[in-house]
Amino acid sequence: MRHLAPTRPFALVLLVVAALTVWAVVGFGSGTPVHADDSGPLVATSICEAHELRALAEEQPDLTIEIPKEFDTPWPTREACLSYEAADDPEAPGPLQPIPFSHKHHAGLYEIDCQYCHSGTDRSRAAGVPSVELCMGCHSQFPAAYDAEFEGIRTLKEHWENREPIEWVQLHRLPEHVKFQHRAHVRAGFECQECHGNVEEMDKMYVTEDTIWWPWGLPAAKLEMGWCIDCHRNNGASQDCLVCHY
Ligand code: HEC
Ligand code: HEC
Ligand code: HEC
Ligand code: HEC
Ligand code: HEC
Repeated sequence: MRHLAPTRPFALVLLVVAALTVWAVVGFGSGTPVHADDSGPLVATSICEAHELRALAEEQPDLTIEIPKEFDTPWPTREACLSYEAADDPEAPGPLQPIPFSHKHHAGLYEIDCQYCHSGTDRSRAAGVPSVELCMGCHSQFPAAYDAEFEGIRTLKEHWENREPIEWVQLHRLPEHVKFQHRAHVRAGFECQECHGNVEEMDKMYVTEDTIWWPWGLPAAKLEMGWCIDCHRNNGASQDCLVCHY
């Protein structure tokens, strides 16, 4: 667990960069924008909008759409656009973050290992959130289209230039009087999903509801004492007060 193999994420990023190079050579940015009038075709005003118009035109073949050359590119992908929007949805559960970061996109679609970004889970109490530097390891290689399309990428790069950490809103936090170590649990063989839900399907991160019930029928909310003890009981782990409390 301690030595992570970052091969897969980097291989993926290389793939993206290679595809981008091909696309740049094949003729990105050689067009001029076209403006719509009321009766004319639907004209895309961004790359993400172009993806949506194309999808719409597929459903409605008699619809006329126009994609100005500068927005006619597969990068950023439609998936990136959709995930960004969903992570930025104020109605979705969980707090809005300084950058609409999608786990579904990074951990789900691109299969980046949880511990590549949360490398503290096997070492310390805190799993930790990744540094700006780690994000930039990939994002500094992406073309300007990403900066233009996503405000969050501009925010990321501003923090990088100013050497400022991103102030992510913390979701899971136990009170000081409780002892908790990721290490013991990860080593006991529990998947992250056991306690955090299907993170790889979440665009916007939130604390999942719990399904564990006490044998006598009381619901145990996640991160509360009953939730910890219920699992300890079911797995033969200690229920001694001083195991969890100082
Ligand atoms: C291992 C490489 C890698 C790392 C590390 C990485 N990203 Fe990404 N990121 C990607 C790829 C690949 C895409 C999407 C490319 C596409 O589909 O167009 C992406 C897309 C995004 C997007 C747009 C979609 C979304 O999730 O909203 C944002 C914003 C983003 N990244 C922010 C971050 C931040 C913040 C970090 C650090 C916490 C980070 N990324 C770390 C590879 C990475
Ligand atoms: C046995 C349940 C359990 C498992 C398994 C688990 N976590 Fe956690 N996680 C928690 C609890 C409880 C907290 C709150 C810890 C605290 O407040 O000290 C937490 C906090 C976090 C945090 C908050 C950031 C911080 O400051 O530490 C992250 C990130 C995290 N976990 C990621 C992971 C990842 C990645 C995995 C899988 C490698 C994982 N967790 C496995 C229970 C678990
Ligand atoms: C590309 C980097 C990246 C990957 C891969 C990643 N995460 Fe995260 N994770 C983040 C960032 C950035 C945050 C803080 C922003 C947020 O909450 O969305 C975060 C937040 C979290 C939190 C909430 C922390 C808190 O404040 O309580 C948990 C839990 C978590 N991640 C679990 C996981 C699990 C499980 C996986 C694998 C399925 C995973 N992460 C994969 C970057 C990543
Ligand atoms: C998914 C099941 C599960 C949940 C939920 C869980 N635990 Fe555990 N915990 C275990 C198991 C199993 C062990 C025994 C691991 C071992 O002996 O290697 C353990 C061990 C521990 C230990 C001893 C670690 C050590 O270093 O010896 C502490 C402390 C602990 N858990 C605290 C907590 C707290 C606090 C919570 C709730 C916030 C919690 N656990 C939630 C399954 C769980
Ligand atoms: C498996 C871990 C675990 C064990 C064992 C455990 N606790 Fe707790 N306890 C917790 C957690 C986690 C919290 C914090 C719950 C929260 O913030 O809602 C907590 C909170 C408390 C609180 C504070 C309640 C409050 O409202 O803030 C008291 C008092 C307490 N525990 C007493 C005990 C006693 C007495 C025992 C032994 C009989 C015990 N605990 C055993 C995990 C544990």
